[in-house]
Amino acid sequence: MILNVLLLGSGGREHAMAWSISKSELLGNLYVAPGNPGTAQVAQNVDLSLDDFDEIQSFIEVNDIDLTVVGPEKPLVEGIVDFLEERGHKVFGPSKAAARLEGSKKFANTFMKENMIPTADYAAFNQDEFDNALSYVRQKNEYPVVLKADGLAGGKGVFICETEEEVEKRLNQLQEDAKLSDAAETLVIEEFMEGEEASVFVLSDGESAKIIHNAQDHKRAKDGDTGLNTGGMGAYCPTPVLTEEQMHRVEKEIVLPTISAMVLDDQPYKGILYCGLMITEDGPKVVEYNCRFGDPECQAILPSLESDFLELIWATVEGNLYEKEIKLDNQYRCCVVLASGGYPKSYEKGKEITGIGEVGGEAIVFHAGTRQEDGKLLTDGGRVLNVVCGGDTLEDAIRNTYVEVKKISFDNMHCRSDIGVKGLAYFD
Ligand SMILES: Nc1ncnc2c1ncn2[C@@H]1O[C@H](COP(=O)(O)OP(=O)(O)OP(=O)(O)O)[C@@H](O)[C@H]1O
Ligand SMILES: [Mg+2]
Repeated sequence: MILNVLLLGSGGREHAMAWSISKSELLGNLYVAPGNPGTAQVAQNVDLSLDDFDEIQSFIEVNDIDLTVVGPEKPLVEGIVDFLEERGHKVFGPSKAAARLEGSKKFANTFMKENMIPTADYAAFNQDEFDNALSYVRQKNEYPVVLKADGLAGGKGVFICETEEEVEKRLNQLQEDAKLSDAAETLVIEEFMEGEEASVFVLSDGESAKIIHNAQDHKRAKDGDTGLNTGGMGAYCPTPVLTEEQMHRVEKEIVLPTISAMVLDDQPYKGILYCGLMITEDGPKVVEYNCRFGDPECQAILPSLESDFLELIWATVEGNLYEKEIKLDNQYRCCVVLASGGYPKSYEKGKEITGIGEVGGEAIVFHAGTRQEDGKLLTDGGRVLNVVCGGDTLEDAIRNTYVEVKKISFDNMHCRSDIGVKGLAYFD
């Protein structure tokens, strides 16, 4: 069996997915829409808009696509899987109903409460009830407290408030900020969970679920987890934050109950389930679900995968994942994000990138925000490149990665110098 595959997306995650799929024996033609200069190295980029489902469907029919793989959350939450399946196409990713685990924080919290999946205490308020939200916080009088816009907000809809004044300020911001007010039609207020964060990635065909790997992301822009929240400045895997015993609890108390409850609710979850966790003194708790691979965790995890990624994806779509084994090599991997100066706030694009050709060894460079122009590679986003390297120990992986990072440069380049370091503390 040979599969023609269409992969949707254009970031570092999609370059890593295209890179991994391109190694498969099952692969026929691989197209990436819209892709980037990195995906063009392993596939054919096609200029399709991810908002235009009809255009995507006609491309699928004209090019005999056997399988469509959806990278980012937005088209998933908007129902692209349902749209294409209703027209007889095979798609990798959760249905619109199942993608609510990410698409609605309120849905996710209600679902977890009903199914006794460990997470933060919470309350939800519609926009016309924000006064009640304030009195709820005042009455609870516990700080910090976490405010979350219900809908997708690109990682910019969550605020950790230290005081009542800050809560009031953020409530106003959520109502007035044009970019946030739609997502904040409903607001979730959560108790603050103390602990260390980690991510666990799961493949599910709706019935059976297999843990792919775990990792730790670095959301803050600057060293020492300071500065603004970003889409992620780097990741490493596996993370010692999750011991074997805790991974067992994650599977038993979170992953399997989530997958089986979704079946019972008649919305089986198919695709990749990203469990964002807080490792508290009471054990692992869910901070959030995402209905897609993490970016940049995916870039660190896929090079560690020895199994055929496309074969696993196909088994997920065909419903025989239980037959498959997920094999990982025994390496640690570190992924450092090279960003434009000023990111996540305003930044300049169009800076010439040099040094990628010098990157050696088994290091990999995934493109996130670049463009080719007159034979030059230029920056074209906040997060520009991801440098990934492995090692027998986490320390080796971190060192090997930064050796390669030093070879690449562009004007006003910014990257953290401490990706993975917080994991080293667990080895002392
Ligand atoms: N209840 C909580 N207690 C403590 N910290 C929290 C809580 N909820 C969220 N956070 C912090 O805020 C960050 C963002 O929250 P969350 O992951 O829910 O938002 P998101 O916008 O969906 O993020 P992403 O872009 O990763 O999907 C978390 O990574 C965590 O650091
Ligand atoms: Mg999220």
